[in-house]
Amino acid sequence: MNLETGKLNPEPGAARHPSQSTQDIIARDKVKAPGWVASESYEYLGSEDIDTQRYIDTKYQEEEFKRLWTRTWQWACREEHIPNVGDYHVYEIGSYSFIITRVAENDIRAYYNACLHRGTKLRSSGSEGCASEFKCSFHGWSWNVDGSFKNRNCAWDFPHAPEENLTLPEARVELLAGFVWINMDPAAPTLRDYIGPEALAHIEAWKLEDRYVACHVTKPIPCNWKLNIEAFMEAYHVPDTHPQVSPTNADVNTQYDIYGEHVDRFISSLGVVSPVHEGKYSEQDVLDMFTVGDASIVTDKPMVPEGASARQMMADMFRKGFEEAANTKLDHISDSEILDCFSYGVFPNCFLFPGISLPMIYRFRPSPRNHRESIYEVLMMRPKPTDGTAPEAADPVHLTHGQSFCEAEGMDAGFGGILDQDTDNLILQQEGLEASAKHGLTLGNYQEVRVRNFNRAYDKFMAMEPFVPDWKKLQRG
Ligand code: FES
Ligand SMILES: [Fe+2]
Repeated sequence: MNLETGKLNPEPGAARHPSQSTQDIIARDKVKAPGWVASESYEYLGSEDIDTQRYIDTKYQEEEFKRLWTRTWQWACREEHIPNVGDYHVYEIGSYSFIITRVAENDIRAYYNACLHRGTKLRSSGSEGCASEFKCSFHGWSWNVDGSFKNRNCAWDFPHAPEENLTLPEARVELLAGFVWINMDPAAPTLRDYIGPEALAHIEAWKLEDRYVACHVTKPIPCNWKLNIEAFMEAYHVPDTHPQVSPTNADVNTQYDIYGEHVDRFISSLGVVSPVHEGKYSEQDVLDMFTVGDASIVTDKPMVPEGASARQMMADMFRKGFEEAANTKLDHISDSEILDCFSYGVFPNCFLFPGISLPMIYRFRPSPRNHRESIYEVLMMRPKPTDGTAPEAADPVHLTHGQSFCEAEGMDAGFGGILDQDTDNLILQQEGLEASAKHGLTLGNYQEVRVRNFNRAYDKFMAMEPFVPDWKKLQRG
């Protein structure tokens, strides 16, 4: 049977690239992978085209703000952005704005960022700092850090708006993996139920709360936010978009997993030749060409001994390099976790890449008033030092349209080039969808199943009633 061409027409979703699988590769590793790495959870989710309108019609974006962003869990900041009581960080999605603040050591809240007098924002977009109160700049109404009303001039003029009714309304907050997550919908499931027990166990096992933001880059991308996020859900594009990576990456034999409606994953193995280049490169070539991740920690050119594999050598080298850099022992961490690219998607807009060699977070948001522009963020997450000190989160570097990711301080040049390749495609895709006589996107049953899972969740939320926040129902006490 020729699975490459699908000639014998296997069951939809059953076809795989006929070369070695991700699990075949991982099974040969010296330091064995835990069960949640050495397992698969693919599900066939259908083969229908995805309607194009959701990417090109501005009405969809308007409805997304009412139905989807108001009802889903999104991370607003890291806990290390607000380490002390009174610290705050403004998170925005569309025209919604929240002040995320630490009220007590273990109490973080998300206030709607608007004065209850005549609506002025209490803190400006993108701001953060430490507050002893939240005071409006217009007429001076003020709130305590715990959201209770503090003071105003001329209280005699407002007998109809008593102070005890003026507590700041809140969105829900939950903490997971070092992130502060919010949800506007009081009826939404808890974050842990939303993620589901299996994916939650994976996320908890990665211990992302023990990392910190070492580099944070934002860039506006000229396409709909859904095209932006979908571009990172599969490795099918790697041979053509990133030809320099393909010789050292199991791209078209990457593994895809579905964990319910809101979470999915891929595992893309590194240090092995892509099936599209089978037979073209030796193990030594693979080792020499390896450019992704912290290649900078590899100083002398190492040689692959007879019978050894480039992958195993890279796993050993990376393990040693990270152990030295973090002054820690990683002998209990599997080769796959050290080396491979793990990508978890949490609907609607978060990607966690918890692997050790390329530890990143992506976040994607629509521009508030332009459905053809999205804000793409990349955060590099390094392990916190073992001496107990807590490094400050890196300030974001805001790139503009024409800039390369390589220009951002702290961004590895090889990796910045990969992100440029990814995002350069997106304006072409946006414009192509608008130009096309074909009104749907066709997806591979296996390699593009995360795109399908994303759109399945999208359809679910878009079919819900609009959620309109009612401030009186969102006040504490
Ligand atoms: S609008 Fe805030 S005090 Fe008047
Ligand atoms: Fe890519």
